[in-house]
Amino acid sequence: MITFEHVGLRYGPGPEVLSDICFALEPGAFRFLTGTSGAGKTTLMGLIAMTLRATRGRVTVLGTEVNRAPPDALSLARRKVGVVFQDFRLLPHLTAFDNVALPLRIAGRPEHAIRKDVWEMLQWVGLADYARMLPPTLSGGQAQRVAIARAVIARPRLVLADEPTGSLDAVQGARVMGLFEALGRAGTTVLIATHSRGLLKRYPHPRLSLVAGRLTQTLAPAGTGGVEKGS
Ligand SMILES: Nc1ncnc2c1ncn2[C@@H]1O[C@H](COP(=O)(O)OP(=O)(O)O)[C@@H](O)[C@H]1O
Ligand SMILES: [Mg+2]
Repeated sequence: MITFEHVGLRYGPGPEVLSDICFALEPGAFRFLTGTSGAGKTTLMGLIAMTLRATRGRVTVLGTEVNRAPPDALSLARRKVGVVFQDFRLLPHLTAFDNVALPLRIAGRPEHAIRKDVWEMLQWVGLADYARMLPPTLSGGQAQRVAIARAVIARPRLVLADEPTGSLDAVQGARVMGLFEALGRAGTTVLIATHSRGLLKRYPHPRLSLVAGRLTQTLAPAGTGGVEKGS
């Protein structure tokens, strides 16, 4: 599903912000990506989402070797990955319905098929009654659920979420996590970046842990006898 082989990344001429990253994520895995602010979580997510390119090493996502793929293959591959951002990134002038419909419209799906899928998806995230609302009028939890619906409407096999509960209260955070867990049970590969100790405590999924741009732990959650390597 995802393999990283000795991957490094630097922004411009600066130092490497990711160094010698090696891991594999098997299909259906549910993982947290942890690390303090600045550790490199968002950068690593960008590499997996194929919006950033490694400056050394090899990244393969869903069969695409990112550094070798031509631009058109890369934009096709990007559509197979669902991405959820902490700040939602909804289009403010489009309704909740039209935000969720966007990936299907971009993919050229016929409008009648789009309507059915979007209604189903809005029901799944508990927002069928909010379809006609504009994002600025939604609560944070509602907006994040619209963002999740948009990320998964095209049935990606891989979903990335960058601090998806970071700006939500506990009740809304739990609701959002419930959606990711349901996706995981349905076989979607899920990777969630977080620095929230509370989240990690409540949801004991295996972790990839970043410290200053290096992976230090690649298996089980704390206290379950996971193998640690490095520092
Ligand atoms: N566009 C950028 N240009 C230069 N440096 C960046 C850029 N984005 C992130 N960085 C740096 O890369 C490091 C990792 O950042 P980031 O991946 O955002 O970490 P995290 O998501 O874990 O907080 C930080 O030192 C940050 O300052
Ligand atoms: Mg970040």
